[in-house]
Parts: sequence; structure tokens; C-alpha cells
Amino acid sequence: MSEKFYVTTPIYYVNDRPHIGHSYTTVLADVLARTHRSFGDRTFFLTGTDEHGQKVQNAAEKRGVSPLAHCDETVVRFQELWQRLGITNDYFIRTTQEDHKKIVSKIMQDLYDRGEIYKSEYTGWYCVGCERFFTEKDLVDGKCPECGREVNAITESNYFFRMSKYQDWLIDHIKSHPDFILPAFRANETLGFLKQPLEDLCISRPKSRLAWGIELPFDKDYVCYVWFDALINYISGVGYGSDDEKFNSWWPASCHLIGKDILTTHTVYWPTMLKAIGLPMPQTIFAHGWWLVDNSKMSKSVGNVVNPMDMIDRAGVDAFRYFLMAEMSPGNDANFSEESFIARYNSDLANDLGNLLSRVNKLTIRATGGEIPAPGEVTDEDKELAAAVAAAVADMGSCLEAYKLDQGINAVLNAVRAGNRYLEKCAPWNLAKNGDTARLHSVLHNAADALCRIAVLLAPVMPEKMAELLAVLGADKLNIRGIADLASLKSVTGLVMKETAPLFPRIIVEEAPAAEVKPEKKAKSSKNDAPQAAKPAEKVVNVAVTIDEFFKTQLKTAKVLTAEKVEGADKLLKLSIEVGSETRQLVAGVAQFYSPEAIVGKTIVIVANLKPAKIRGIESQGMLLAAKDGDNLKLVTIDGDMPSGVSIG
Ligand code: MSP
Repeated sequence: MSEKFYVTTPIYYVNDRPHIGHSYTTVLADVLARTHRSFGDRTFFLTGTDEHGQKVQNAAEKRGVSPLAHCDETVVRFQELWQRLGITNDYFIRTTQEDHKKIVSKIMQDLYDRGEIYKSEYTGWYCVGCERFFTEKDLVDGKCPECGREVNAITESNYFFRMSKYQDWLIDHIKSHPDFILPAFRANETLGFLKQPLEDLCISRPKSRLAWGIELPFDKDYVCYVWFDALINYISGVGYGSDDEKFNSWWPASCHLIGKDILTTHTVYWPTMLKAIGLPMPQTIFAHGWWLVDNSKMSKSVGNVVNPMDMIDRAGVDAFRYFLMAEMSPGNDANFSEESFIARYNSDLANDLGNLLSRVNKLTIRATGGEIPAPGEVTDEDKELAAAVAAAVADMGSCLEAYKLDQGINAVLNAVRAGNRYLEKCAPWNLAKNGDTARLHSVLHNAADALCRIAVLLAPVMPEKMAELLAVLGADKLNIRGIADLASLKSVTGLVMKETAPLFPRIIVEEAPAAEVKPEKKAKSSKNDAPQAAKPAEKVVNVAVTIDEFFKTQLKTAKVLTAEKVEGADKLLKLSIEVGSETRQLVAGVAQFYSPEAIVGKTIVIVANLKPAKIRGIESQGMLLAAKDGDNLKLVTIDGDMPSGVSIG
């Protein structure tokens, strides 16, 4: 890792309500910043809000308040969300603050004095929504190429930045700096855009049309174009023009994180502006994909905008941060659905990680009263576990460097699963029963050591939960600052574990009318939810059902025709099953126990009248029955030959 790390998010339109997309970029920046800090790198993390422009002016007018008063009220939504999400930005910049405005003004005057900005008459097609001019050839079916809305032809005198003169230089810079625009296919997108002659950039708006902006220092009838103003935040936020020492210690930025829709402004406008100002280029501009909801674009009119506060209320801050980071491969689009959120939470956090902790915790308390014992002779199983953890440490490091956080998380989860397999293989419960104390102690030590390292690796993603995990292990005493300290981690021997409740209580989905996310723990601690949360568990175990109630559930035999793994979900198999004359699709969480080949041909038992549900975006028409005991799972099958579609009862 580098010694200095300066990361930025886009500054968000202050008018908007923060949603899952804004949260994603900001959490990603936070994870990167936390990781770099943990490596001992000097780190600066900047985020903020973009507060000038037409939309703010219109919204303020509508409400009968001044634009600044409007911004002062709405900026809080972002600030509160970042606080709730545990975002550790070093500074929050607002483009309406005096020092930023002063710098924008200074830069404009300087560029004007040097002939980089000139006045000219211009006719263009203006999109109010995007606050951008387009040329005739940019339009798609006569509409805005960005948002598809109507555009208006406007002729006016304006000021222009001589962007065109930097075209060849920019092409060269992109080609000679493979890390400048990432992922690489986005660099190709920009190079594609640069195949057309680059035009000069209109950087002013007449006040008669838009008054809410930074006044041009050389012409009081104009304000600065909102993008020209906004991009400058990346330098004004670290002291450009006001604190040279600070600025020189942070600039150039290590990484501007952006969404794919603002690629051109960041990879064409911004570099050419910097070149004209005379500043070095940022190291990397990383464009991530978009979050879709149930595979569609989020939109206010459709009403499918995911409110991060709702997700946090339902499942906790760290679960939400984890989902965002694990589910999206940066660069590609990702899909949000309540089902995928619950599936990932229950499988990765409640089952895999939560189980590992709870088993190690209980077994150690039973064996030694909580003190982590010393290890003994090293066996092949011990080596295998240590290798899985070492691979996770190495992969997390390299994946973070390459902005492939989802892959790093996956490597850590592989180590978690290796931990659970280790316990299965070594069966410490049997060692305890058989009085093999030396080996029992060794196994408990090694599992605790693995958990400690895993918690450190996941701490930038789930800071609160992993701090809790380390405290349960007693490893908070080791003062581990982060991943870099793992190489010299002191022994966990002698640390004293505390008894713990489940770190990630399973989310229980209550059936109809509308599936709702309910973490058991949250429900228990909240007065309103407590009775409802206690019920499902008790209902299953204690409440007697009448024969009529039982027969509401239709159990049937079914024959498995085909089976395949679900991509990106290592627990799931997608089955096609024959139920009498009908063929159905079913998604089952049995992939870790049955390979596709082993399950095909079996006659299984299914709940045939279960409401179809989507699991990882795939429809499952029913549910198969299986017996599960810890990490042991066996399908319920039929004792002898029986056709499919036969009722059971
Ligand atoms: N104000 C400008 C940025 C100026 S930076 C100098 C802006 N603001 S925005 O609020 O509209 O968007 C901010 C970021 O949110 C962009 O990176 C955009 O890609 C991102 N997202 C908006 N919707 C999104 C999703 N559905 N998914 C992921 N990110 C998305 O543009």
C-alpha cells in the first residue's frame, strides 16, 4: 500500500434524498480509508454536497425560502446518514461555503487572465434536469442523451473553457497511465468519447436564467457552471489556494470514486481543468456500476428507491455495510432485493461467521471456563486452516489494492467456512468426551486464532460488529490496529473469552402479507417488536396444530430432473423437478451437502403449495424438506419406488 491515501466521493446533490447508491460509494470510500489507516498510511477522506444550480434554486423558490436556507436544511440528511453508517470522513465540504467559493473564483480569474477562458456566442440544446448543454449530434431522438428528457434550444453569450486544446494530451495521458481510469473498460469508454473532436466547455450561466451559483469574478452578469464549481471541491477541500502545505501533502488524490454516469465529467472535464490550472492528475478515477432494485432502475416515480435508513433500522448498520460491499463487484451493476439481502445476511453472517464464533465460544467456555488454551502439536488439519486464513489475509490485501472488495470479502468468508469445516473434522465435542484434552485445547486455540484474524480482516467493513467479536475473544487486549498488524499478531493463548449472544441473529421472514426483515435481536430489544419476534421461534417448537391445520400444507413427492449451482451463491442449487405431470423450478440451500450429480435422480419431498419466492433473483416454486443438525444435512427421501406428484400425509 502507498504511504499517503487521499480518497473522495462525488459531492452529492444536496436536494436529493440519500439512497442506496450514495451509501454504496460512501461506504466503499470509508472501507478504503479505514483499511489504509490500519496500514498506517496517512489518509484523508473527503465527501460533501453540491449545492448550486437550477434544481436547488427551483426547490427553494417552491418552498419560499432562500436557496442557502434550503441547502442548510437538506444537507442534514446526508450528514445524519453518514454518521449513522459510521462514515469516517475527515472533512465534509459544501460548495456554498465561503472558502470554496473564493477558490473557484480565484481559479476562474486566473484561467481568464491566461486566456484559458473566453467569451463567445453559443447555441446549444440545454437539459434543465442535467444542467448541461448538448450539441445537436449529442441528442438521442431529439432528447437529452443522459436522461431522455426534453431539451431546449438556447442561444446566448457565454464564457468557455478551452478544453479542446487538451484533447491530444488527455488521450496520451489515459493511454500511458493504465490506472488512471478504472476499471479498464471505462478508460476505453472515455477514449471512445475522445474519438470525436472535443469541444470547448461552456462554464457560465447568465444570471437572468440562473442566479444560484458562484459569480464570475470578471463578469457580474454570470454565474459559474455547477460542474466547474463542483469538481474544484476535490482541491479546495484539501487547502488549495489557502493552505499550500496541507494541499501539497494531499494532492494528487489517490482515488476519486464515482458512479458510471459521471464518467465524462470526471475523466474529461476534470483532468483538462487540472491541466489548465497546472496541477498533477489524480492517480485513479474509479467508476462503479449502479444499484438496481429488483433488476430495475431506481426511480422516485416507480417508488422503488431503497432508503438506507430503513435497511439499517431493520438489520443493523454493519449488516447493511457488509451487504453493500459483498454484493457489488465494483465496476458492474448490482441488484438489490430484500430476498438477496436476507439470503446473504443469513448465510454469510448468521450461519457461517456467527456459527463459528458461537461454537468456539461455547466449547471454550465449557472446556476451560473461557481462557484460550495453548496449542499443541501441529496436524494437517491445523495447517489447512492456517493456510485458508493466510490466503484470506493475502487476498484481502491485494483485492483492496485492485478495488475488488467483494472478492476480498469472499476470500475471508472462505476462511470462515474452513473454520467451520475444521471444527467438523476435529470434532472438539468428541475430544472433550474422550478426554483428549491436549488435542481439544489445540483445536480451540487454532479456531480462536483464525477467528481473531478474520475479525481484523472484516473490521473495515463491519467496524462495530468486529470490535464486538474481538472483545468476545478477549482480543481487544491485543491492541491490533488492523490488517498490517496480523503478520506480527501476538498469541491468543491466555486471552479470556466472554459468553456471548448470537452476533448476527438470524433474520426471520414472517410469511404474508408482506415479507418483512426482522432480526431477532433487534426485535427483542425493541418494546414494540418483542412479542412478534418471540413468537415465530416458539410457534414452531411448542404450539400444537390440528390435523386440519397440518393438511393445509401439501407435501408431495418430486423427482429431481436437473441441478446446477447458482452463480455467486455457494450454498444454493437450482433444481428442475418433476411433480406428477408438472415441471417446476426450485432453489434449495443444499449445495454444500449435495453436488448437482448427487441430487439428480432422487425422489424428494417438497412443500408443494408454498407461495413462490425469489431467492437471489431466481424464482423458487416450493421448498424441499431436509433434516439439519448443525453442519450435517440430509434430504428427506422416499423409502422405495414412488412416482412423483404423490401426496404425503
Ligand atoms: N453532484 C454530482 C457529482 C459532483 S462530483 C464533483 C452528482 N451528484 S448525485 O447526487 O446525482 O450523484 C452522486 C453519485 O451517486 C454519482 O456517483 C452517481 O453515480 C451515484 N448514484 C446515483 N444513483 C445510483 C445508483 N442507483 N447506484 C449507484 N450509484 C448511483 O452527480
